[in-house]
Amino acid sequence: MRLDKFLCKSTDFSRAESIDLIEAGQVRVNELVIVTAQTQVHENNCIMLAGRRLVARPSRYIMLHKPIDTLCSNVDGDYPSVMNYIQVDRAEDLHITGRLDADTTGLVLITDDGRWSFNIINPKYHCEKTYRVTLRDPIEDGDIDELVSRFEQGLQLQGEKKLTLAAKLEVITPHQVLLTLSEGRYHQVKRMFFTVGNRVVGLHRQQVGKLSLDIELGEWRHLTADEVSGFNCYESVI
Ligand code: URA
Repeated sequence: MRLDKFLCKSTDFSRAESIDLIEAGQVRVNELVIVTAQTQVHENNCIMLAGRRLVARPSRYIMLHKPIDTLCSNVDGDYPSVMNYIQVDRAEDLHITGRLDADTTGLVLITDDGRWSFNIINPKYHCEKTYRVTLRDPIEDGDIDELVSRFEQGLQLQGEKKLTLAAKLEVITPHQVLLTLSEGRYHQVKRMFFTVGNRVVGLHRQQVGKLSLDIELGEWRHLTADEVSGFNCYESVI
């Protein structure tokens, strides 16, 4: 991680204050004075500020059950931010891993570990997200096989060059399906159903990777160490 970020993670200094301290020659990394804030450091390095060794606070990993009419953003907008539901220190250091639309409910992951989020969001790592989708028009029994195969083969979304990656569609009832994606394009689920002539009238994310939503609407909890490390197994498949 960058040296200025390390300072923020191990002290109460802001990013700007950390940069000032580094540029003023106050920070040593393995005995050397480092004056460039972008210098990459490792948590095992001996990083000293004013004669004191700094230790980074552990990263935080949170699951939230997002209610409808909330925003996956750090600040309020047309709707309140999901961050209003979470009571932790330094909430401003957290970011949302894979946003949901305001009218979507379900599993949202929140962290201050950028590398961890990257593994989850980047389609290269094939981390699957499962949505329960409620549809305006019923799917007739005779159309199921063709629809499943169209989602599997990839759809051409309006305004995009590349087909969507293979998606798994499971029909639960004529109006309700489970859809599993390994990428997260803008309004992807809604646009996929629009492409096949239907409309999404309800959307809920129930699983990300192996992690299933297991808390009530509006609740949040820290992930366990096993749940956190469960996301580090994703291999590049592209
Ligand atoms: N796809 C959508 O269309 N909306 C979401 O919130 C998530 C996936």
